Amino acid sequence: MHTKFPYTRLRRPRMSSFSQNLMQESRLTPYDLIYPVFILPGIGKREPIESMPGIERLSIDQLIIEAKGWHSLGIQALNLYPVLEPHLKSEDCREAYNPEGLLQKSIQALKEAIPSLGLITDVALDPFTPHGHDGIVDEQGIILNDETLDILSKQALSHAQAGADVIAPSDMMDGRIGHIRSTLESAGFKNTLLLSYTAKYASQFYGPFRHALGSDQGLGKKDKRSYQMNPGNLQEALLEAEQDIVEGADMLMVKPAMAYLDVVYALTQRFSTPVFAFQVSGEYTMQQLAIEAGWLNSDIILESLLCIKRAGARAIHTYFAVEAAKRLNA
Ligand code: PBG
Repeated sequence: MHTKFPYTRLRRPRMSSFSQNLMQESRLTPYDLIYPVFILPGIGKREPIESMPGIERLSIDQLIIEAKGWHSLGIQALNLYPVLEPHLKSEDCREAYNPEGLLQKSIQALKEAIPSLGLITDVALDPFTPHGHDGIVDEQGIILNDETLDILSKQALSHAQAGADVIAPSDMMDGRIGHIRSTLESAGFKNTLLLSYTAKYASQFYGPFRHALGSDQGLGKKDKRSYQMNPGNLQEALLEAEQDIVEGADMLMVKPAMAYLDVVYALTQRFSTPVFAFQVSGEYTMQQLAIEAGWLNSDIILESLLCIKRAGARAIHTYFAVEAAKRLNA
């Protein structure tokens, strides 16, 4: 190793923008971005989300209008989250796999309107359970892993049948990737991609999302630590990844992103399966509020996303997707 001054001046390439650009190691493009959206029942509906300033819940018709614009900015895929009417929530979560359900209908309508826009769907039971957990529970409130798998598979299959391109299980039950993969294969869905939330941490950064979906009301003071990962753990993420790859995941995901970039990096160093990251609602709201208050320059948006790419993420879920794509195209 020899980086001896003045033969080596690390400031040399920083002196002009052409050389800065040529030397840049990681780059962000609109193709890297996935936009998570909240879908309302009904038509002509738009509701601002209090906990996520700048983001709205949209009914399917409004979503289609907007999504055409987003796609033309270069955004490649949406991740769809249905906002369930409370009377559709039940202990057995049968609404999760209703072929006429809000999510299933949204998938069909979006696919028909914008066939080239990738559709990613969330597989987990939290929008459908009165208690807000991602799985079904026994009388003591214990989450039942294996019983939940059957419902998750039915849910995933109903998404694939409706036309989803990518199924993204975010529930963290053991064995879900294998269970869903074999269900999809036996039903003839050989090309449906599985994006596993491999390392999903039990994080306070999800707070604004739970408010947006209304799952916070059922969840109350309960937490998800019996299935989501301990924020103190990294080795465990590698074990999760090994299992997901063997069980048939096409992509792995780390969530949240910014406080967990070491996990993104570790997974990309160890495995060749593409790793995605999810810049979650709390990460969005923290930055957005500080930008609105004038304490952070809005260039923080592209900086934070670029740093997630530098850590190794192949693509990023972000509520800043539209704003970031506009800035990248400018
Ligand atoms: C639920 C789910 C959550 C998020 C995505 N899917 C929240 C949770 O686990 O409670 C969080 C997304 C965000 O905060 O942006 N399966």
